[in-house]
This record gives sequence, structure tokens and C-alpha cells, in this order.
Amino acid sequence: MVRLAPSILSADFAELAASIDAIAPAADLLHVDVMDGHFVPNLTIGPPVVRSIHGHTPLYLDCHLMMTNPGDYLGAFKKAGAGGCSVHVEVGGTDELIAQMRDLGLDAGLALNPDTPFEAVEPFLDRIDLLLVMSVFPGFGGQSFMPDVLPKIRAARAVIDRRGLDVAIQVDGGIDTRTAPLVVEAGATVLVAGNAIFGADDPLDAARRLRAAAERAAA
Ligand code: DX5
Ligand code: ZN
Repeated sequence: MVRLAPSILSADFAELAASIDAIAPAADLLHVDVMDGHFVPNLTIGPPVVRSIHGHTPLYLDCHLMMTNPGDYLGAFKKAGAGGCSVHVEVGGTDELIAQMRDLGLDAGLALNPDTPFEAVEPFLDRIDLLLVMSVFPGFGGQSFMPDVLPKIRAARAVIDRRGLDVAIQVDGGIDTRTAPLVVEAGATVLVAGNAIFGADDPLDAARRLRAAAERAAA
């Protein structure tokens, strides 16, 4: 079973509510990209916008925190209505950040950049709900999928299965109908897609086609 997480990064922020409503029938969760202008060279949105989205849609809010100091904001994201947050392993302090997410009652996600080896996240797998494998360098939507990350997805799938862990594998960056089957075959269970959905003329149809492509690969 594959879950689809449309990323609002590629939506028109002035039409956010309508954009979310348009794709909601095909979405399992909504991916919210939070960028701090420091961990990544871009700025997006924070807890106030998450609060507004949460007030508008019942969709689960999956917040990807591309931030140097996510620990300072986890409480605010929880209060705003986040269902889960993912922090990057590259920022360090991972033990404390996972404990903090657990204490707050947030689903705990751990993200890793394309050039970070799987071994960096392996010690934390028994304490997280979601492993977010970046298939582009974070910071911008609409980049090309990096096939080099496929062996990392396979390695994560093998270890998670061998250890019998309940950890979803999410892949984020350059996912479309061509690349979705590749990551699903490698073991991904949650697909993030921004440009392939919100950049399409008919975002709902694009989301449905993406899901169909992923499910064919999962079958
Ligand atoms: C990139 C973000 C992604 C982004 C994906 O830094 O983490 O979630 O929205 O966008 P696409 O699907 O366009 O590559
Ligand atoms: Zn993301």
C-alpha cells in the first residue's frame, strides 16, 4: 500500500485553500515544507500557516522541517496541528529531537539528504515512524530525481524488514509517474510530489495518475 503526500510547496500560496481542496480526494497526507533560510537556501512558511491549513482541512499534516534548530519549534508545530514532523539527521541532536517529538505526541520522522549515508539514520530506526529519503537536495521544488538514492531506499527497506520495524519510507524530490515506480519497487511506501501535482493543468487528475503508477509498481 502506497500513500501519496502532495507537497504544497508547488501550490499557489495565495490560493492555498482551494489548491488543497482540489487534490484532497487523492491525498493521504499533506506534505508541508518548512525552510529556514539557513539549513537550506530558501524560506517558506511556519506554524501560523500550518494552523490555518489545519483549520481548513482534516488531512494529516506531515511537516518536513528543513531547519537548523527544529527543536525550538516542535511545540509550536504540534500546537498548530501538525500530525508528524520530520527533522534532518544532518543538524545533529537527533536523540533529543526524537524524544521531544515523542513527548509532544507527534509522529517522529527523520530525514536524510542525498549525500548522507543510510548508516547515519540506522541507529534511530527503532524510535521513529517515518524515514524521509531526499531524492533531491532540499530547498526547491521542481528538481530532477536523483537515481543514485535508489540503493539507499533498498538498504533502508532491507534493514526495516529484517528488524521487523514499523517505519514508513518516504521519498521526496522529483517524484512523477516515471520515477514513482522506481522508488516503490525499491521499497518506498509514502511518495511526496509537488511539481508533478500542482504544476499540472489538472492537479487532481495528476495525483490520481501518480497514485495509479505507484500502485501498479507495488502490485
Ligand atoms: C524540496 C522539498 C520537497 C519538494 C518536492 O526541498 O522538500 O518536498 O516540495 O517537490 P517536487 O516534487 O517538485 O520535487
Ligand atoms: Zn519536503
